[in-house]
Parts: sequence; C-alpha cells; structure tokens
Amino acid sequence: MFIIDGPAELRGEISVQGAKNSTLPLLSAALLCKGQTVLHNCPELSDVNIAVKILEHLGCRCRREGHDLIVDSAITSCEIPEDLMRGMRSSIVFLGAMAARCGRARLCSPGGCELGPRPIDLHLSSLRRLGVEIDESGGWLTCTAPQGIQGAYVSLAFPSVGATENLILAAVCAKGTTIIANAAREPEICDLCEYLNRCGGRVYGAGESCLIIDGVKELFGCEHRVMPDRIAAVTYMAAAAVSGGNITLRDVDNTHILPMLAPFEESGCEVRQMGGCLNIMAPRRLGPVKHIRTMPYPGFPTDAQPAVMSMAAVGQGTSVFVENIFENRYRHAQGLGRMGAQIKVEGKVAVVEGVESLTGAAVEAADLRGGAALCVAALAAEGRTRLTGEAHIRRGYEDLAGGLRELGARVRESEES
Ligand code: UD1
Repeated sequence: MFIIDGPAELRGEISVQGAKNSTLPLLSAALLCKGQTVLHNCPELSDVNIAVKILEHLGCRCRREGHDLIVDSAITSCEIPEDLMRGMRSSIVFLGAMAARCGRARLCSPGGCELGPRPIDLHLSSLRRLGVEIDESGGWLTCTAPQGIQGAYVSLAFPSVGATENLILAAVCAKGTTIIANAAREPEICDLCEYLNRCGGRVYGAGESCLIIDGVKELFGCEHRVMPDRIAAVTYMAAAAVSGGNITLRDVDNTHILPMLAPFEESGCEVRQMGGCLNIMAPRRLGPVKHIRTMPYPGFPTDAQPAVMSMAAVGQGTSVFVENIFENRYRHAQGLGRMGAQIKVEGKVAVVEGVESLTGAAVEAADLRGGAALCVAALAAEGRTRLTGEAHIRRGYEDLAGGLRELGARVRESEES
C-alpha cells in the first residue's frame, strides 16, 4: 500500500516518463519488423513487463538497459497463452501484428475489465475487412488470413484507439492500400505511425481522421524514442493543483497537454509552457473545474478525468463531469467520498461540490487512473491516507510514490496489509 501523509505542498522539478499507451502498440509493432528495434524512454511498468513476456513467448529476444528496451524480432509461436492475455487487457493489440506476421493468431478474448465492458467488435470487424477470418468459439479468437492480409476501405463506427492500432498493424504489410475512415487521432497513434514509417512503412495522415496505408513488403527494426506520457504529466499537474504547489515538469510534449488545460485554467492555476517543460503554479484555494466532458482526442481524455475529479473535490464551487468513453469510470468517486468529497454519480454524469478540505482515510485503488486520483486527493487531505491496490498504479506509473516524494510529498510504500 501507499501511505500518504497530507497535506503537502509540491515544489520542484521532475521528468515525465515515456507513455504506456504508446509503448504497448510499439512493442506489438516491433514484432512486424525484421532485425532489431531499440525503444528509448521505455517506462518500467508492469504492463510493459507483460508485453515483453508476450514477445518472448512469441519468439523474440528482449533486453532492458535502463530505459532502453531492445527487441530482436523473431516469431516461433502464434499463440498468446491465457495467463498473459488476462494479465493485461490491452494485449489485444498484438492481434493485428500476429495475423500480419504469421498469417494466423490464437489468443483468448480479453473479456470484461475494471472500466466496464470493453468490447472488441470493432477490432474484429475491421480485421475481417482486411481478409482475416476469425473464429470466436470457446472464449478464444482463432484468426487466419488464408490469402494474406488485403488492403481495404474500413470505416470505424467509433474512433477506437485500440481498433485503429490493430488495423494499422495489420495493414502496414498488406497487399494494396488500406483507408481507415474515422480513425482515432490520439498522439499515441502518431507515435506508432512515426515508428512504422521509420521502419519502412508507408502510413499517411496520422493525427487526422482518415489514414491511408500503402502496404509494403517488409519492415526493418529501428531506434525510436517513446513519446512522453501525457496522462502521467496531467496526474502530476493535478497533484500540484490540489496541494497549492508550484512544479515544473520536464520531458513533456506541450501540444499533447493543450486539450487538458481548461480545468487547470478554470480552477485558477497558472500554467506556463516552454519547449519541453511545463510549469504549473496553483492558487491557495482552487476554484471549480466546471465542466468536463470526456471525448476522443483532441477532446478531454477519459484517462485524465479521475485526477481532475480530485481537483474538483477541493475546488470551491460545483463541477460537472460527463464520462462518454467508458461505463464504469467513476469508481474513484467512492474513495474520494470516504475522504470527505461530495460527489453524486448518476450514470455517465458526476456532480462534484468542492469542499474546503479532505481527510485522510483507508481507500482502495479499483483501477489504474482512479488509483492515481486517490493519491492526488490524499495530498490535499489532512492526515494519513492508506491506499491499497497500488498494483493497479504500477501498471501505468513508473514510481509515482517516488516522483511525488521528489516533489516534497510524504509518501511511502509499505508491505503492511
Ligand atoms: C485506449 C487506452 C486507454 C484509454 C482509451 C481511451 C491503451 C492501451 N489503452 O483504450 O488507456 O483509456 O484508449 O483513450 O492505449 N469500443 C467498442 N468496440 C471496440 C473497441 C472500443 O465499442 O471494438 C468502445 C469502448 O467500449 C469504449 C470506446 O470504444 O467505449 C473507446 O475505446 P478505445 O478507444 O478502443 O479504447 P482502448 O483502445 O480500449
């Protein structure tokens, strides 16, 4: 568990880790490339460790040197065992690359998850359009591409991040051209396309809603720096905001932060962006964050909603959240409530009446971003918070406790239960 003694006032400078949500598809992409890929700025996370285990199981050799991850690509198996699939919901992102590299793939369906039902219908229907035959019986997905992957026109009913990634990975070495309409535009998609193009791929339009992919015969591994983690950055910004802090984040991509700035400005924080650095200075008492509606990029990201709700919990006034992406994404509201927050949740709407101060409590992280949000709130709370379930946090944050300590928070990790 994390033991957090509040309140804190964060000060200082810290570097932001590489992006989890970029690393996982990049590792899947490495499977498609001949030779060696070196990923720089690769965060040390339990989800990344699982992705590495999947690659090793499939036949790749992987080696970590600090924040460099070196993958020597080879494939001897086309099946991901159940324990690895269940270890990480996003392992579905290996599907497109495996189908493309081996012409077949077998993996168990990822099933439901802590954010509510997480369907993969768009992944499957769009891969079928590229000529992949998929059998879904017995809880397993068995995929074959008897004629090889064929370029096609695919229009996504929703700009799903995972489905877009799987399609790109399947299409990059397909016969002919693939056009993806209503593609996801998240920066992590751009990072994936940049890597693939550097490996010899021909993917055009990354960051736009229409992607054009001219299939190439082969890809060759290369060196690539994983983009900065915009969600880790916003988590530290929220931590500074609730604690009346003044911190500087290094290694951020400020353009990726823009869609998340509104609640910080609304609540009275001063944010200055300079090159790859971001400074945030919070007022003594935050105002409300007002209205947050989660949307696909460049809208406000669902992954940033929980940490910003912790700001709303102590911001003077009323804030309203509408969660449009995942069904079960207010589980942190219960923990915040235990700390004294006034939050009413009804379906996809949450109304938060900011209180003067929170009180430390025993709370449990139910999911990754919700767990980080409870950590943020604990910094604004009087007294001690004991946060269990921190394994969720390790899935996506490289040493969040250490990072907060570096900024002056009193956080320690304990084996107690
Ligand atoms: C990715 C991120 C996750 C982030 C999310 C939204 C990774 C590993 N995960 O998840 O951290 O919270 O984007 O930015 O990068 N949907 C369908 N059918 C499908 C696929 C998705 O209905 O086949 C729906 C989902 O139920 C959800 C919405 O589309 O309501 C968004 O999902 P998607 O963009 O696919 O998110 P993930 O790729 O799962």
